[in-house]
Amino acid sequence: MTRVALVTGGASGLGSAVCGHLARAGRRVAVLDRDGAAAKDVAERLRAEGAQAMSTEADVSDRAAVDAALDRVRAELGPVDILVTSAGISGFVAFEEISLELWERYLAVNLTGTFHCIQSVVPDMVAAGWGRIVTISSAAGQTGTARQGHYSAAKAGVIGLTKAVALEYAGRGITANTIPPFAVDTPLMRGAQSDRNIPRTETISRMIPAGRIGTPDDIGATAAFLCSEAAGYVTGQIIAANGGAVL
Ligand SMILES: NC(=O)c1ccc[n+]([C@@H]2O[C@H](COP(=O)([O-])OP(=O)(O)OC[C@H]3O[C@@H](n4cnc5c(N)ncnc54)[C@H](O)[C@@H]3O)[C@@H](O)[C@H]2O)c1
Repeated sequence: MTRVALVTGGASGLGSAVCGHLARAGRRVAVLDRDGAAAKDVAERLRAEGAQAMSTEADVSDRAAVDAALDRVRAELGPVDILVTSAGISGFVAFEEISLELWERYLAVNLTGTFHCIQSVVPDMVAAGWGRIVTISSAAGQTGTARQGHYSAAKAGVIGLTKAVALEYAGRGITANTIPPFAVDTPLMRGAQSDRNIPRTETISRMIPAGRIGTPDDIGATAAFLCSEAAGYVTGQIIAANGGAVL
């Protein structure tokens, strides 16, 4: 069946790879991002590869914008069966220097943005009696990371939210799981390296049992499995595609 998938943060990094994997699995893909031009480029690339795809611009922290984007997706592709939430922001600030404004922005994008997207699409899944939700959290939400109090708290919230949603909808054909990446080669990670907030790739690779950092495809393949028909009995789980970095 040609299911409809919505990927937030689909214009870059992990989200872009997830879009490619879902499209190759035969999904119709909607790429949502606050960077509308980059989202358009990804959708064009997917169409060039033979997929049915569209893009839509929205800031996930803005509920009205998320709802309007969902209306565009439903009009163009149909009700949403699959949601992957990759939109997120990351940064490093000493705990005592986290302003209330920064704290609230991190929660608004990373946690409340995830909440908005799930709540906006879940009625489609309930109506269909089938759904797949994959949130992209972070190892920081599992272990905490120094100078990431705001980010770690928001991502731990994403893990808790995903488990609650999984329990609430498990009897209605809807699964919800979270992937908490550790270190994946994306513009976000490279930015943190160039700001000297995290070590160079060779150093990080030595911290990871698998001996290398992750690729966006590592996450894309894991997300595509969790969104497949075959993964229908997997729900409420933390599926850490991280090379063994956090167990
Ligand atoms: N790369 C890693 O090592 C790593 C590790 C742990 C967790 N993560 C998480 O993975 C997710 C994707 O990260 P990435 O590395 O691909 O980063 P990225 O910066 O390459 O991509 C993030 C995308 O999200 C979009 N976005 C940001 N804020 C948004 C908003 N308010 N509304 C809509 N779109 C928004 C950006 O425009 C961008 O296209 C994030 O949630 C991040 O926290 C990444």
